Amino acid sequence: MAFLDKHKAIETHATLLMVLSLLVVTIGGIVQIVPLFYLENTIEKVEGVRPYTPLELAGRDIYVREGCYGCHSQMIRPMRDEVERYGHYSLAAESMYDRPFQWGSKRTGPDLARVGGRYSDEWHQDHFHDAKSVVPESVMPPYGFLANREIDGKYIQDVVETHRMTGVPYTDEMVANARADFAAQADPNGDPSGLEERYGAGAFGHAVNVRNFDGQPELTEMDALIAYIQVLGTMVDFSTFTPVANR
Ligand code: HEC
Repeated sequence: MAFLDKHKAIETHATLLMVLSLLVVTIGGIVQIVPLFYLENTIEKVEGVRPYTPLELAGRDIYVREGCYGCHSQMIRPMRDEVERYGHYSLAAESMYDRPFQWGSKRTGPDLARVGGRYSDEWHQDHFHDAKSVVPESVMPPYGFLANREIDGKYIQDVVETHRMTGVPYTDEMVANARADFAAQADPNGDPSGLEERYGAGAFGHAVNVRNFDGQPELTEMDALIAYIQVLGTMVDFSTFTPVANR
């Protein structure tokens, strides 16, 4: 065929093949990349996604400090096996307030993007103390020491303010009350109304988890870490969510 004969000239001429390949890749690249320059934002806003409460934010810092991302991802890919195992695939908006994001790239353990609410606080306490006590074949290291490390939120206002500097929409009230909200979330006998007003159902459509996460009277790093784990993947109500493409 005449057309294939012409192609033979390209295939037998290395320099020509390279130049033409480069041209094709360049056009492909431009088509993919240029539209992004014209978008204000590639993240679609989704109802329910809110900035972390001060206690959850502290828990997230512990997650990063302990390197949990070395064994756990937080991104469910839109593929059938993942969605069946972990739940609805992750939306960009769900990690829009994560600085830095915790998508991870290694899964020695399961993905944690939707682990919130899947187990009780007691299960997490047991699991962090000794993972084998609840999952006999587990290789997850023990983190029981977190329950002995008391925290008082001394720096939490600075942390919240820093996140605001990077673009997380914490309000003036959220910053000013950061330390009070930090303590209120783990104190079932306190008054969580301020915390609820700032981060709860009225503002974002779902209540804040307020309870004694580690089961001990002291406020510890274990409280913060479990508060963080229990909110993961729970902010968006997938019974009512429809992607823009399907609207
Ligand atoms: C050395 C790798 C490793 C590290 C580090 C690690 N994990 Fe795990 N994790 C695992 C494995 C393996 C499992 C699955 C078995 C089990 O449930 O213990 C697991 C399970 C879990 C589960 C239960 C998930 C589910 O859906 O059943 C949670 C929650 C969890 N890890 C949280 C953490 C947190 C928080 C940290 C950091 C403080 C952490 N892990 C650090 C390996 C690890």
